[in-house]
Amino acid sequence: MTQVFDASRSQVPTGRAFPDDFLFGTATAAYQIEGAAHEDGRTDSIWDAFSRLPGAVVDAHNGEVACDHYNRYESDVRMMGELGLQTYRFSTSWSRVRPDGKGVNRKGLDFYSRLVDSLLEKNIKPWLTLYHWDLPQALEEKGGWANRDTAYLFTEYAATVHDVLGDRIDAWTTHNEPWCASFLSYIGGEHAPGRQDPEAGLAAGHHILLSHGLAVQELRSRDASLQLGITLNLTVADPVDPDAEGDLDAARRIDGQFNRFFLDPIFRGSYPDDLLEDVAHLGFDKYVHDGDLAITSQPIDALGVNYYHGEAVSSTPVADQMSTAAPSARPKRSPFPAAEGIYWHKRDLPITAMDWEVQPEGLTRLLRRIDEEYTGTAVKLYVTENGAAYNDVVAEDGVVHDVERAEFLRLHLAAILDAIDAGTNVYGYFYWSLMDNFEWAWGYHKRFGLVRVDYETQERTFKDSAIEYQRIIAGREL
Ligand code: FCB
Repeated sequence: MTQVFDASRSQVPTGRAFPDDFLFGTATAAYQIEGAAHEDGRTDSIWDAFSRLPGAVVDAHNGEVACDHYNRYESDVRMMGELGLQTYRFSTSWSRVRPDGKGVNRKGLDFYSRLVDSLLEKNIKPWLTLYHWDLPQALEEKGGWANRDTAYLFTEYAATVHDVLGDRIDAWTTHNEPWCASFLSYIGGEHAPGRQDPEAGLAAGHHILLSHGLAVQELRSRDASLQLGITLNLTVADPVDPDAEGDLDAARRIDGQFNRFFLDPIFRGSYPDDLLEDVAHLGFDKYVHDGDLAITSQPIDALGVNYYHGEAVSSTPVADQMSTAAPSARPKRSPFPAAEGIYWHKRDLPITAMDWEVQPEGLTRLLRRIDEEYTGTAVKLYVTENGAAYNDVVAEDGVVHDVERAEFLRLHLAAILDAIDAGTNVYGYFYWSLMDNFEWAWGYHKRFGLVRVDYETQERTFKDSAIEYQRIIAGREL
């Protein structure tokens, strides 16, 4: 193994070791990598349908072919083996397993079964996510996540996947980033299905939480030994001026509508009072039936935390606001149901190609807070996504020398070690993503991979960051 990234020039001190039981992995998602969108019985998901809407995805890109992982999974798993991954987080496609949300598609399930066998052969722990945003379009036509019935259908889908993979997988995640699947998709309009309806977004958020609890009950009753969990994308919302009341209130509201809307029903069995007040005008109450919160708060074993950056918010407008919205042409609105009068200020931080601020210390604070306020020793924390897009350049030697991504990786792994040193229970890290892929409304324009994908030839090439990660995993230290 050639060491290409010069760790001695990194801001991160070398030689810090990881605990023996800490898992190193990477993450992907079905729609972003599989392709084969209409092969072997798979039917449209909301992302297939959304990608066809004019202006929904930059340059009308879609996941029809993506990384063609459906047909190339064997060599992709070999590549994971070469990287030294201990675990691999992937998602199953509901539309592949139960096309149109009904029936059972054997061929679709066989694909995941083969994938899992290949992973196990390489001694890579399969980490399965049931929902990474690709609802069958047929269910969207019946109201999607705004329709309570979808929660019960999700449980059937979970059972179908468990029927086939339950003997070989113990790490089960119900949902990936419910905030995106509800607020960004049903309120902001930036993600599929592209609705702009605050009431529907709140209903969707609740129904996703309900479906999480129902699926946990179902899987737990089938096998009490499974490691069950959910992955949330969480932020660290700081007031621009910690002495300004308006800024403190802006931070409270964003924390409520980004983090606590999901954390509280899962870990406390209630929605936060201040949040309910903020959204009181949107008729949310009627969606929360008696007994629902006892279901959403079923005990779980693991919480996945996806962290990319935090934010600085204020009640004072600023000319040049921080914005992370995709430049797709279709109209969008704020993904927050009640964030009028909140402004995002830029900070003096480096940014990635997504215009996301690089803020590793936010990850340390976030993990410590979740551990202290919600999970403690009862629930294991895993960073299930973290990574960066940069404008990669293929050098004359054919390789992407992505010094910035390798440094991003080191900075965030060090931030996790800081949390562990402070006594937080963090047990693993999954870099997003194994390889470049379909980045939702940005199409193929943003590359997060450790591995470069040439979309013309489907050739995969390790970037320098991949080799740096391989080195870290092999030595189990920075
Ligand atoms: C997360 C998503 C993942 C990927 C990264 C960059 O929000 O879960 O699919 O798009 O962002």
